[in-house]
Amino acid sequence: MQEEMTEYAFRQKLVAASLRLVELGLNRGAAGNLSLRHGKHFLITPSALLPEAMHPEDMVLMDFSGKVVTGERPSSEWRFHRDILASRPEIGSVVHVHSPFATTLACLGREVPPFHYMIAAAGGTSIRCAPYALFGTQALSDHALAALHDRRACLLANHGMIAAGRDLDEALGLAVEVESLCEQYWRALQIGEPNILSDAEMNEVMEKFRGYWRR
Ligand code: 13P
Repeated sequence: MQEEMTEYAFRQKLVAASLRLVELGLNRGAAGNLSLRHGKHFLITPSALLPEAMHPEDMVLMDFSGKVVTGERPSSEWRFHRDILASRPEIGSVVHVHSPFATTLACLGREVPPFHYMIAAAGGTSIRCAPYALFGTQALSDHALAALHDRRACLLANHGMIAAGRDLDEALGLAVEVESLCEQYWRALQIGEPNILSDAEMNEVMEKFRGYWRR
């Protein structure tokens, strides 16, 4: 009973977060998808459904072999959600968006260098851009996993962004942060070449970030 209640609460959280991403301007229409680890399984948003039309019952429960346990049509991106959750035990939730500024840079295939110290929030000295691959493919998942090595966020060329966190709030918060960094980088590029922080300066930031964040 307790397990079922938790699963239903997780389904509700996924619907609320999908709506929140639209409110925040990070997604439009049916773009993007979200997942949450749930014991030996994970819950993922359904494919091609507008957030306004989503109900908790539409969320799809899958196992890590890629089998649907409950539900109908999981997000076409279930492979990268599954692979990230399976290979990174510290991650409990994955958020994928086609947010305007991250996607603009991703369409140029540009990684985001440490032009601002907050780049360290994504786990390292840059936010990488994974090479292009067709949406929903294992190739896209493999590229995403490599770009996320030692990181919690990456861009996907000609596509969008992935942000991950210990839970849904953390993953969503990082997606918001990465989108604002992409906006700031894009704006800075309009008037010149941004100063890039050195590895030593970024290591100092990452050291200071240890234990800095509040849950
Ligand atoms: P889904 O609706 O299948 O989740 O696909 C949307 C998307 O963003 C694909 O990358």
